[in-house]
Amino acid sequence: MKILITGGCGFIGSHAIKEILSRESTEFIVNIDALTYSGQPENLIGIEDSRYRFVHGSINDRELMNTLLRDYEFDYVLNFAAESHVDRSIDSVAEFIETNIDGTRNILEAILKMESNGKKIHLIQISTDEVYGSLGDSEPEFIESTPLNPRNPYAVTKAASDLLVGSFVNTHGISASITRCSNNYGPNQFPEKLIPLMTLNAIEGKKLPIYGDGMQIRDWIHVSDHVKGVVALMDAVSDGTIESGEVFNFGASNELSNIEIVKKIIALTGASEDQIEYVRDRPGHDRRYAMGFAKAEQRLGWTPIVDWDRGLEETIGWYSKNDDWVNSVRTGEYRNWIDEHYG
Ligand code: NAD
Ligand code: TYD
Repeated sequence: MKILITGGCGFIGSHAIKEILSRESTEFIVNIDALTYSGQPENLIGIEDSRYRFVHGSINDRELMNTLLRDYEFDYVLNFAAESHVDRSIDSVAEFIETNIDGTRNILEAILKMESNGKKIHLIQISTDEVYGSLGDSEPEFIESTPLNPRNPYAVTKAASDLLVGSFVNTHGISASITRCSNNYGPNQFPEKLIPLMTLNAIEGKKLPIYGDGMQIRDWIHVSDHVKGVVALMDAVSDGTIESGEVFNFGASNELSNIEIVKKIIALTGASEDQIEYVRDRPGHDRRYAMGFAKAEQRLGWTPIVDWDRGLEETIGWYSKNDDWVNSVRTGEYRNWIDEHYG
């Protein structure tokens, strides 16, 4: 398989690259990443594989995307590139519209162009459970046919790109799939997201800022399970067992409130509950996400395998041992965000 990965220097994309390079069927991977604040070349340190090549560039660059697709004749494009942090989308949505919607449009048009030259490329659009909106405590989990109801600017841009992908399948007949995954955790996640932020603050004796009442629920999945799901989907596409345009949910049935997670992090790091600080709630904060992923289990033969307790413990261990990574990602831009957002 010849694969283009976009956003491969980010959290999930970098794990996907490592997973896909571990497969013999991979002929080569090209990783295009704009290296925004969350794109960390450090995530891929140690990869010495002649099948891997990095291109520093943006998915919004029309000429570059056309050239890459023409020159490498990829079988798959895995689109991980995105602006991914809800809080930042509340502060400013422009970059989210540019990368998540317009960047996806650019990829779709480049794929369509190749198709008109006789080369079929399958796009896997990496989306999120947030496109389905927010659940009440007793509502059933999201399934693939749950209507889209995104409620924050980030989620809206992801839902828009999902719909755009669907429209290119329906109107132009391109080959594509959409994955929607729940909240990921694991090594290499940029420390603006809940688990790495709280872990590092706990270790360093800093405040642990909980939005609102801390009773919001997310359904946590280890990043290695997510990327294995994406790989299982590629295999199903190659085997011809799925239709173009299908959507697959990934999750791991680990529904936990934010306060439960923070208390667990405190216990595992030896921090103090006095570090907890309840702060102003996120505006429009989604209350609960929960993923139904029976379709992926049945159709892709995939199931999440990482046990939550073990996964969290190992993840915390990783952040406490990898000072070099932590120091290098906490650049000036990161410090500005923390100062502005948390005062
Ligand atoms: P991330 O912020 O860690 O990484 C995003 C990467 O995209 C970075 O390397 C960044 O440099 C790159 N990028 C941004 N704009 C770009 C552009 N215009 N051109 C090329 N590269 C660009 O995000 P992540 O957590 O790894 O998320 C990856 C994907 O998975 C996103 O599409 C996100 O919506 C989706 N997702 C994330 C989660 C989660 O819990 N983190 C859950 C479900 C889905
Ligand atoms: P986050 O990791 O930003 O993921 P998402 O918003 O995509 O689910 O946040 C996870 C949950 O943790 C969410 O309910 C917001 C909450 N949260 C806090 O309470 N404090 C924080 O400092 C952060 C970053 C998040």
